[in-house]
Amino acid sequence: MTKPKVFLTRRWPLACEKRLLDHFDVTLNEDNHPLTPAELKAALRDYDAVLPTVSDALPQEVLSVEPLRCRMLGNFGVGFNHIDLETAKARAITVTNTPDVLTECTADIAMLLLLMAARRASEGERLVRSGQWAGWHPNHLLGTQVTGKTLGLVGFGRIAKAMATKAHFGFGMPILVYAPRPVPIADLERFGARQMESLEALLESSDIVSLHCPGSAANRHLINAERLAMMKPEAILINTARGDLIDSQALIEALRHRHLAAAGLDVYEGEPRLDPDFLTLDNVALLPHLGSATLETRTAMGMKVIDNLEAFFKGAIPTNRVA
Ligand code: DGY
Repeated sequence: MTKPKVFLTRRWPLACEKRLLDHFDVTLNEDNHPLTPAELKAALRDYDAVLPTVSDALPQEVLSVEPLRCRMLGNFGVGFNHIDLETAKARAITVTNTPDVLTECTADIAMLLLLMAARRASEGERLVRSGQWAGWHPNHLLGTQVTGKTLGLVGFGRIAKAMATKAHFGFGMPILVYAPRPVPIADLERFGARQMESLEALLESSDIVSLHCPGSAANRHLINAERLAMMKPEAILINTARGDLIDSQALIEALRHRHLAAAGLDVYEGEPRLDPDFLTLDNVALLPHLGSATLETRTAMGMKVIDNLEAFFKGAIPTNRVA
């Protein structure tokens, strides 16, 4: 029996590539370059399955390619806002993602950014590396204590709950939650958390706000100038979800004028080309979309894509089907 032809848009951890090569007729993007829309279209034309990542844009224009051979998009990542699901459905392309396996890892990065931003870790690191550190003194690089501060979580899915566990049980932080639908009482009671009646109420009451909602047209610029102005001036904003949840220019203005004390960002509008004004600010900790970046997690993500792929080509419904 001929093996399905599968195209990987980027290189994966070796154990995953090996498993794929054993079971499918695989083409790798050998030099791991980011694919152009034309290359993605060619892959959709020539392969039975394409395995994209969160950085491969698959809008209607790309998915409308003719003739279409691809029947499955096995996304390497939990977020799928880069794939036009409506067009995928209309073209009978099954789409899967990789939930669960990156939950702890991404919450770890949110916690890392929270600590970096509150304790001015990036500034400290830059100072030491520049050779400019003149030694300890009582007023040197004073940050904000994290332990005991109130954490506001926007969204209360898997990653937000993992963040609540770390923050509440590790750092004694009271937890506030904003979610568009009522959260089961038992889920809140685990952390002694309170669901706020509105996003605005959460922003006004939190010392630190961490975003954990999906990227979507509806959530674009959820955090805008008006909402940033509702936050306490000593508050900190963390984003490990999607860059376009925040209006970057509004955040830059708020940080520049200290209407907001600090921010920690792992994701950006238009990444990897983030707004260069961020680089001029000392009070923002910047990471390059590292949320799921451990070997264990990236391997688990790849294995999950392959589980879905194998199920699909056996004629079953893949566990993590999103379209
Ligand atoms: C995802 O899986 O959506 C993450 O953003 C990748 O780290």
